[in-house]
Amino acid sequence: MNKTPQSGIFRENSHHMHFLEYRLTSNNCNLIKKAITEAIQNIQPGEVSLVISFGKQAWQLLQPNWTPQTLENFMTLNGEQGHCAPSTQSDLFFWIQGLDMGVVYDQAMQVHKSLKTIAELSLEQQGFDYHKNLDLIGFEDGTANPKTDDLKRSAALIPAGQPGEGGSLVMCQKWVHDMDKWDAVPVHCQEGIVGRTKEQNIELEGDAMPEDSHISRTDLTVDGVPMKIYRRSAPYGTVVEKGLMFLAFACELKRFTTQLDSMYGLTKDRKIDQLINYSKAVSGSYWFAPALEDLNAVLTDLR
Ligand code: HEM
Repeated sequence: MNKTPQSGIFRENSHHMHFLEYRLTSNNCNLIKKAITEAIQNIQPGEVSLVISFGKQAWQLLQPNWTPQTLENFMTLNGEQGHCAPSTQSDLFFWIQGLDMGVVYDQAMQVHKSLKTIAELSLEQQGFDYHKNLDLIGFEDGTANPKTDDLKRSAALIPAGQPGEGGSLVMCQKWVHDMDKWDAVPVHCQEGIVGRTKEQNIELEGDAMPEDSHISRTDLTVDGVPMKIYRRSAPYGTVVEKGLMFLAFACELKRFTTQLDSMYGLTKDRKIDQLINYSKAVSGSYWFAPALEDLNAVLTDLR
């Protein structure tokens, strides 16, 4: 039987997002399950979508019988040239999205009201769609995502027959851009850093594509298998602090670790992704977003 992924993973028409990460303060499974059930009650499916994900320890607390084969905690990465991708791994991750900011906010408030009885908030960030998929660095983000439903599913979902089938491995990482530094870079150099043109959004080709561009460091194939992921990142910002909530779904954790190692120079060629000289990761976590059947089974199994 093919299990049903949480539908929000593939919902692409949202304008507003709310990211909430929690660290459990209780280890009472029944209380945790009740709080999560309460948090997601009365969701209006057309209005708002909510994807619930679990850190490894929290999943094993609530579902001791099985864990997705590749699920691990995010470990801090110390890059080849002094850059750092810190781990801020916690236990529960709620990704809320919708068309209307008020509705998304109401849902976030409902989640927090229920969750604060068993957990403490470790990260909160709102995000938004900026001029139809632009990142705040002025380049379109998400272009090279898998295009068809089948390709999205095969990149994002744990295959049938494996523990966690129909679920997804999730990576969430908050990045803070140094916009003054970025804006001082001439556009043709920015294009070399990203690996695409800014206006037309065309991938650079041949000698024009630097080996240390963001595309060169993330468009990878390992043992003949393209390391495809499905990205759902969102810009965030005030007039002072701005950046990207990087969010992506994959069928196995290796897809993320391979790309991160390559960005931070932890590969044989020791080259780093030039983009990390202009944006800094300030959080990092890996999650498991179970299929609906597995989520429901966990939440209704009160002892
Ligand atoms: C400051 C943080 C980041 C920014 C601003 C950013 C921005 C971009 C942009 C503008 C593109 C080109 C358009 C597209 O295909 O989406 C891109 C591509 C991509 N990014 Fe990022 N990104 C960031 C972090 C990351 C991280 C942390 C990863 C993975 C761990 C990642 C993985 C990818 C992949 C796989 C592609 C597509 C490569 C291809 O096949 O062409 N990005 N990103």
